[in-house]
Amino acid sequence: MSTETIDDVPLSKDGLEHYFRAYEEFIGPMREDSLSLLELGVADGASLKHWETWLPNALITGLDVTPSTAHFSSGRVATYQGEQQDRALLDRIGAERAPEGFDVIIDDASHVGQLTKVSFWHLFKHHLKPGGLYFIEDWGTGYWPQYPDGKRFRARSTDFTWYEKLLTRAHAGGPSRRVPGLHRALGWLRWHSVRRRHPSHDHGMVGFVKTLIDECGIADATHETFGTGAPRASRFKWMRVSIGHVIICKAE
Ligand SMILES: C[S@@+](CC[C@H](N)C(=O)[O-])C[C@H]1O[C@@H](n2cnc3c(N)ncnc32)[C@H](O)[C@@H]1O
Repeated sequence: MSTETIDDVPLSKDGLEHYFRAYEEFIGPMREDSLSLLELGVADGASLKHWETWLPNALITGLDVTPSTAHFSSGRVATYQGEQQDRALLDRIGAERAPEGFDVIIDDASHVGQLTKVSFWHLFKHHLKPGGLYFIEDWGTGYWPQYPDGKRFRARSTDFTWYEKLLTRAHAGGPSRRVPGLHRALGWLRWHSVRRRHPSHDHGMVGFVKTLIDECGIADATHETFGTGAPRASRFKWMRVSIGHVIICKAE
């Protein structure tokens, strides 16, 4: 049995310990298990080598658009060449490497929202075990105007608008209190003024990640009294969004 902790393993991602802490937290407790792990985007194989060492009994699979020249001594690692959004290829990888489904899937590939979304939903629905974990790295590319689908971030005010402030003052003021009809009308307007939308940055990966919040809320969205559509539970058991990392656990 390996006694190595994540601190003993050389990290391939200088300055990105944050990611490894998350892997330690969620995968660490099952490190010795016979996990099946798929990583999208493997570059020169540094992360695959890390998984090979850190997960001594795991079957590890990588996918990248560029062919891998890395050598893996354990016989537990295989790589495929192709695009993360190629559903037929994902099916072939699933059938060949994890017919029962993967325990862990990590996406460190294109960091482009649409491509990430296609591979996420295909793999999540068809090739991730119930209770399995799906990690999406580097979702902040959607804030970068230089990225193919990113855009410069524009912060939005959290303050009330001028008319909301005016309504609040008018509603609380003496004249309003002396005329019950006016007071009620101003109260109604005030109440309706808070029925506002909260638009936020939704470009590229940032937009995609925010759509995943809709899946977290789907039981309320399809609530039989208040919602629309056929009621259903979320496909997610839970989701954690942190700096640069999204982690989703598939419902059992
Ligand atoms: C950040 S690097 C991966 C680094 C690797 N996970 C590590 O930590 O050592 C991203 C990789 O994704 C690959 N990539 C980019 N777009 C892709 C796509 N659509 N499908 C599959 N791989 C892609 C690139 O070729 C590149 O090697």
